[in-house]
Amino acid sequence: MFEDIKNINHEVHNFKSKSSQEIEDFRISYLGKKGKITLLFNKFKEVPVSDKKEFGKQLNILKTAALDKITTLKSSLNDRPKSSKSNLDYTIPGQPTEIGSRHPITIIRDRITNIFSQIGFNVSEGPEIEDDWHNFTALNFPEEHPARDMQDTFFINKDIALRTHTSSVQVRVMENSQPPIRTISPGRVYRNEAISARAHCFFHQVEGLYIDKDVSFADMKQTLLYFTKAMFGNETKIRLRPSYFPFTEPSAEVDVSCTICNSKGCNVCKYSGWLEIMGCGMVDPNVLENCKIDPDIYSGYAFGMGIERIAQLIYEVNDLRLYSENDLRFLKQFTTESY
Ligand code: DAH
Repeated sequence: MFEDIKNINHEVHNFKSKSSQEIEDFRISYLGKKGKITLLFNKFKEVPVSDKKEFGKQLNILKTAALDKITTLKSSLNDRPKSSKSNLDYTIPGQPTEIGSRHPITIIRDRITNIFSQIGFNVSEGPEIEDDWHNFTALNFPEEHPARDMQDTFFINKDIALRTHTSSVQVRVMENSQPPIRTISPGRVYRNEAISARAHCFFHQVEGLYIDKDVSFADMKQTLLYFTKAMFGNETKIRLRPSYFPFTEPSAEVDVSCTICNSKGCNVCKYSGWLEIMGCGMVDPNVLENCKIDPDIYSGYAFGMGIERIAQLIYEVNDLRLYSENDLRFLKQFTTESY
């Protein structure tokens, strides 16, 4: 009997297999109902009493060895790759990776911020969901001003709206810092407009603000001339027309000489030779006061332009909707070098 245990132990020890079927056959022939080890357990009653203890002990060791063998063989099967031969053809040329391009609005926004950063303006940002104070009240908008109307503004509740212009960021900058301030604030703005080639419910603006002692209208005009020459070319001229904004006094509208027809007259400039590109003016003393800046000590100018408008003149894109349709045929045409 002890001899049987020894022999079976030897067989278990030497068993090798590469297939799961063989391992299963091994399990059945040793541990199955009529398996060799199972049969030895059945013979236990025939073992003389004096040997029972030792026999039981050795039999249990044998059974554990057989079970361990099965587990080890099975797990080595799982580790092995299904087939040692690879189906990959390493000589096939790789798929080309398509490189995306910058959105035209991003290209123009970066160009504008670069031009101003070269003359000491930093970049500031504010939230697109804005409160009444920063979007209207601090900017001197009268209570009954039409821009406050539901028809122009997307209100979230009585006090909160989607900002209608980036002028709200000037208020935030002035509230949080003291002059000298030189900042530009690019960002997205929202207006409750029906979408068409010429209007959209969202677009982008860049706001500019300069506050210091003795800042004059002439400083503003010179800065804007520098900007337009850098943006549209050295030959570009500007003209300022009187206008009205609640937050600036005096206010003006800035026109550039038509970049498309060289001021000869075309349908973009409506045969006037001039294109309107932004609003500007000297910051109203009320606005300075609202932002805790002393108007007796400081003065400054502000300006605001639409990025889509500048992009339209640079790229001659005449439908605003194209900018937000994500049509790759459109977007692919713009590169940082394309103007
Ligand atoms: N916020 C004005 C708008 O959305 C643009 C503007 C005009 C900004 C004059 C200014 C400014 O800072 O001085 O139409």
